[in-house]
Amino acid sequence: MDSERIDKLQQSFGILGESDRIKEIVETIDQVARTDITILICGESGTGKEVIANAIYRHSLRKHQPFVKVNCGAIPAGILESELFGHIKGSFTGAVDDRKGYFETANHGTIFLDEIGEMPPETQVKLLRVLELGEFLPVGGSEVRRVDVRVLAATNKDLAVEIERENFRKDLYYRIKTITLNLPPLRKHPEDIPLMVEKFALEFANRNDIVFKGFSPTAIHLLREYSWPGNTRELKNFVESMIVLQKGEVITSSMIEKRLLGERRSISSPHLPMRITKSVDQAERELILQQIMMLRQELREIHDVMASNPLPLKYETRREMEIQNRLPHSQIEEKEYEEQESPEIISNDLINPEMLGKVTLAEVEKELIQRTLKKFNNRKRQAANALRISERTLYRKINEYGLEESK
Ligand SMILES: Nc1ncnc2c1ncn2[C@@H]1O[C@H](COP(=O)(O)OP(=O)(O)OP(=O)(O)O)[C@@H](O)[C@H]1O
Ligand SMILES: [Mg+2]
Repeated sequence: MDSERIDKLQQSFGILGESDRIKEIVETIDQVARTDITILICGESGTGKEVIANAIYRHSLRKHQPFVKVNCGAIPAGILESELFGHIKGSFTGAVDDRKGYFETANHGTIFLDEIGEMPPETQVKLLRVLELGEFLPVGGSEVRRVDVRVLAATNKDLAVEIERENFRKDLYYRIKTITLNLPPLRKHPEDIPLMVEKFALEFANRNDIVFKGFSPTAIHLLREYSWPGNTRELKNFVESMIVLQKGEVITSSMIEKRLLGERRSISSPHLPMRITKSVDQAERELILQQIMMLRQELREIHDVMASNPLPLKYETRREMEIQNRLPHSQIEEKEYEEQESPEIISNDLINPEMLGKVTLAEVEKELIQRTLKKFNNRKRQAANALRISERTLYRKINEYGLEESK
């Protein structure tokens, strides 16, 4: 491997990492980007799937042609097909004009189908046809159209499992998986953490004109030891938040510990940070618990606001109940659970009895969604994760409640 070439490519694509796993990925990009072959990018949330898709596009022969990104999980299933392949006027209520789909927009260029695991099976059939024959029928159309589009796809799902569940077509899977880039979770390449921390920190401090004195070696050590369930995205956000919070001092391990502990005090063992030796299952379970606790925190905040307000409220949401139902107590280690609960929260009285009959489920849901979006700076995926609903459901509810202005 020509390591100088790989380094240069990494630099120009902004892909950080000195580990073998990252280097191998960049090497593969170098080998396949200039072909028209479909590439599947797999990895947990925050591992850099979009960064890699951008790099492939920019290193391809189609780099001067359009690059169209479609988040299949964010477009309602019912309209995804027409968004991708276009429609003919009058083909369904609301189709007042002919409309070009993303595939035609991307003609001669590249399309990035993000969250391909969310694509409904009917649409998958059409996708397979475009991949195999370069042709498709717009919704309601009878004339075949032809396109020349290179497809990149990404997913954080295990498509083999989705095939077993009959959510994903086997033929499509075999068609797209020839070149698969498996992006490792950050906990599998912790040796890259120090470099990432340094780069993210410097970049953020420069961009925002903040004086920044660096991290102490023990602080870096702690960051390396943590399991980062939200992967590089979480690390980046964390580093940026530390820079905002530090007051011109070197960031120490106790500052890190306080902040990691502060964010997750309610979920994990008292011995934070989590050791990376934890199993994926364990880390996932902790992530779920963390989300429940964040939701509880939200409820507590809503409660606090309401308590200092002439109007209400202490209430329990449907989601809250659903989550409790889904995660029976037996699945949660009793001891940890008890430690996490504040007496105020476990009281069964989240709804102020006086408010019963005065607030609707929709009002509660709307407010919870609005505040969760705000908490995550309108990052839909994170908000959806915290609410434990799919991103698509979140988008639907945002439309339903007219919450777009909360951007
Ligand atoms: N190797 C990397 N080098 C530099 N930045 C990275 C790397 N991996 C991820 N990031 C950063 O982490 C954040 C998340 O990356 P990205 O959006 O590509 O992740 P993703 O896998 O698409 O996540 P999701 O599944 O949630 O969409 C971005 O800010 C990105 O710049
Ligand atoms: Mg992504």
